[in-house]
Amino acid sequence: MRLALISDIHSNSEALRAVLSEIAEAKVDEIVCLGDIIGYGPDPLNCIDLVQEHCSLALLGNHDFACRTQPVNFNQVAREAALWTRFKLDTAWPDDAARERRIRYIDHLPVRIHHPRDSRLLCVHGSSRCATNEYVFPDDLQDAMKFDRLFERFDNICIEGHTHMPVVFEQDLRLDEEGTEHTSYQRFLGYREEMRSPGPDGTGTIRGAANVTLRLSEGKKYIVNPGSVGQPRDRDSWACWAIMELVEDQDPKVSFRRTYYDWHRVLEMIRRTEHDDNCPYQLDEFLGTRLERGF
Ligand SMILES: [Fe+2]
Repeated sequence: MRLALISDIHSNSEALRAVLSEIAEAKVDEIVCLGDIIGYGPDPLNCIDLVQEHCSLALLGNHDFACRTQPVNFNQVAREAALWTRFKLDTAWPDDAARERRIRYIDHLPVRIHHPRDSRLLCVHGSSRCATNEYVFPDDLQDAMKFDRLFERFDNICIEGHTHMPVVFEQDLRLDEEGTEHTSYQRFLGYREEMRSPGPDGTGTIRGAANVTLRLSEGKKYIVNPGSVGQPRDRDSWACWAIMELVEDQDPKVSFRRTYYDWHRVLEMIRRTEHDDNCPYQLDEFLGTRLERGF
């Protein structure tokens, strides 16, 4: 089975459409979305529709939840964006039936689920022990106790999003000659020092996690984060996603991809929310300018 993994779309339909068209060329069996379909960006309704149409499975993210309830523990920009999104979710576009369908879809997203066709995969938005809200950052690897607790809550592979950074963590558990267990952790991908200069051709630039393929050993355990489609934060503005190959009797493989999209159009859409007199909220321009920085 070939799975496309996407996460943290954040109402960025420009990025999502670009990624979906590359996924169509990649001939996958299914697309799994790891949450935060909405929040931050300017096009929540089309993003929900596209995820519902294309993804076999989608998880609830903390922003999806906040946009349907109350934003709690959000900074001011995120809070206002959640309230703006909540207002938009109540828009009957193009009709009441579409509004009800979207709300029902978000309200029924699971928070923690094993993939129906391959139970090796635990799917969450945040982490294995706090499915919607816990961050597992690349630098957290220094906290071995945190990783012990995270890895004891699943058996094989945990796929998650939330940090907007593509990364793979590996747990290696060995017994020494006296039968004592030794656990070690390793990180692949993660932060980059270089910033990628923007542009559709990518010439002369360094792209984070692009075309990196990792083989996951059957006897070890993994956390896999495909990065963010709609708001990458690893200093690369191109949308980030991954393909996971799961074939019986073979080591699983995960390939990371980057996709160009026009973030200037998203910035323009965000700026236009300022002129919507019918809505008491607006999106902060920072949510558009940060897309170009990829951070
Ligand atoms: Fe997110």
